Amino acid sequence: MTIDTDDDILGLTTIGRIVGQTLKAMIEHAKVGMTTLELDDFGRRFLEKYGAMSSPMLTYQFPGTTCISINEEAAHGIPSDRVMQAGDMVNIDVSAELDGYVADTGGSFVLPPASADKLRLCHATKLALNTAISKVKADQPLNVIGKAIQKVAKQKGYKIIKNLCSHGVGRHLHEEPKMIPSYYDPRDKRRLVEGMVITIEPFLSTKASQVVEADDGWTLKGPKGNMSAQYEHTMIITKNSPIILTSV
Ligand code: CO
Ligand code: CO
Repeated sequence: MTIDTDDDILGLTTIGRIVGQTLKAMIEHAKVGMTTLELDDFGRRFLEKYGAMSSPMLTYQFPGTTCISINEEAAHGIPSDRVMQAGDMVNIDVSAELDGYVADTGGSFVLPPASADKLRLCHATKLALNTAISKVKADQPLNVIGKAIQKVAKQKGYKIIKNLCSHGVGRHLHEEPKMIPSYYDPRDKRRLVEGMVITIEPFLSTKASQVVEADDGWTLKGPKGNMSAQYEHTMIITKNSPIILTSV
């Protein structure tokens, strides 16, 4: 969506803060020995406290409130009886709707003890997100996002998962501009517009440039032994720095 009124900003700010706080609380709550369903239940109760509804559930009938993906799973992991283990790379993605507004956030972390390799991947992915955020501005080409992410990934020696993209958001979980790649595409002539609401969500990985759908019909996985990390914020594009709605 593109912002029209002050109510739009207020509605987005509210849901942005709720999903940001939910993600933060879930990361703090996650423990070795807990199942991903227990962690998801905690997130569900947190969202319910504010009257917010899970967007993947509402939009796609996703069988969970949040997406929780472990190790070689990159995204859209279904909360289940899988028990989280020491050293696991965990990704939680929280998107929710309140009063007709939608915000989307995500983050990866390692359950202790964390290996240096995994922490390094997390750090590089966070840097990729922050570098891309520093480049987005009204009237710039949309492909500044992919350009920035690609540069950081290359510098740090990681692959980009190319079939997982950033996207427009605000009224619906996925809306125009759709499929904003995390790599530089010179043929992409779209531009950033003042008031545009988008996510930026790079996925960096150790080996894979693509993920494939698992047999459960949801989980997007890399090859065995692949590790990936993702960080995601929802933001409003302005003439200067974007307004980040999901950082708490
Ligand atoms: Co997300
Ligand atoms: Co997203």
